[in-house]
Amino acid sequence: MASKLVDRYGRAITYLRLSVTDKCNLNCFYCRSDPSKCAVEPSEARLSVEHYRQISEVAGALGISRIRLTGGEPLLRTDIVKIVEAVAGAKGIRDLSLTTNGMLLDRMAEDLAAAGLKRVNISLDSLDEENFRQITKGGCLESALTGIESALKAGLVPVKLNVVLLKGINDHEIEKFLRLTLDQDLHVRFIEYMPTTGQEGKWADYFLDLARVMEIGASIAPLKQLKGEHGGGPARYYSLEGAVGKIGLISPLSRHFCAQCNRLRVTADGKLKPCLFSEDEVDLYPALGNVQALKIKFKEAMSLRADPCIVASTPEERRGQFRGKRFMSQIGG
Ligand code: GTP
Ligand code: 5AD
Repeated sequence: MASKLVDRYGRAITYLRLSVTDKCNLNCFYCRSDPSKCAVEPSEARLSVEHYRQISEVAGALGISRIRLTGGEPLLRTDIVKIVEAVAGAKGIRDLSLTTNGMLLDRMAEDLAAAGLKRVNISLDSLDEENFRQITKGGCLESALTGIESALKAGLVPVKLNVVLLKGINDHEIEKFLRLTLDQDLHVRFIEYMPTTGQEGKWADYFLDLARVMEIGASIAPLKQLKGEHGGGPARYYSLEGAVGKIGLISPLSRHFCAQCNRLRVTADGKLKPCLFSEDEVDLYPALGNVQALKIKFKEAMSLRADPCIVASTPEERRGQFRGKRFMSQIGG
């Protein structure tokens, strides 16, 4: 169905990210932060399975065809399989995916697939046990790797790995990550560190332009740019000559993709966000239970979408335009 959500800059919305919790079992500094700096209090209000069903039905009716479930860590919700079932059953939704840190995936992958989940993206910032533990503040690399295996076995494919590139922390692992694609059918995606609230001092220390990944890639084997359908997200894809897997680059700062932005976000406390970098939010809560009222809220969010022409093209300037009030873990990426 054609999108009925087109903003005044001509961008059609076809993709919705639904956060199901702001809680996480890991504590990566770039995503969560010092809770005392939290601009938006963790909320007790949370959407129910029935609420996710309603929102997905309305989204489908408005022309959205892809939904991604995120967190915090979405697998912490004890009713996550029920949420997957409810969203997968919504008319018009043909691609249902989930972003997870993989810690709990081993025991849940089969059930999630049976409930209608099509694929997963897994956050994995290091292939070194000790480095992984430090970045995540206590996470276990082995559990993430087992999670990846289980996702592949359950057919939650393609499995995409998300590596947030952090200068001085995991940039020495770029080559190892790239080499993973040589013999494994994985999409290894590097993501530029985005500013989020509560960590203003850290961004300049750790930000690294993804051009570095391309340099290292080219030193391993010739790189080919790939065209075509890869999930509707912001990644640009490449492959190393002879490789089974793919390499993805997500560069929101050095090469922003706002002119192609096709998505809205809903936080776990029911706020519809028109833009990741903005503090604007539309509260869906009062409209739940009323299809027409929910549709009006979606249209309201559309009227708040920013002009892509004003988006700065250098990382430093773009960072200066960040106006968000939430940690990334309270939005879901
Ligand atoms: P698919 O392409 O559908 O597989 O998903 P995705 O890449 O959109 O989702 P994922 O949750 O794996 O996100 C990967 C990274 O891209 C995260 O760091 C997100 O924060 C970032 N990202 C996703 N959408 C946007 C966006 O609209 N703007 C910006 N700036 N970053 C985004
Ligand atoms: N910059 C870039 N990516 C981030 N993520 C979380 N915080 C940030 C940030 N500050 C990523 C996670 C996860 C995805 C949903 O968002 O690593 O893979």
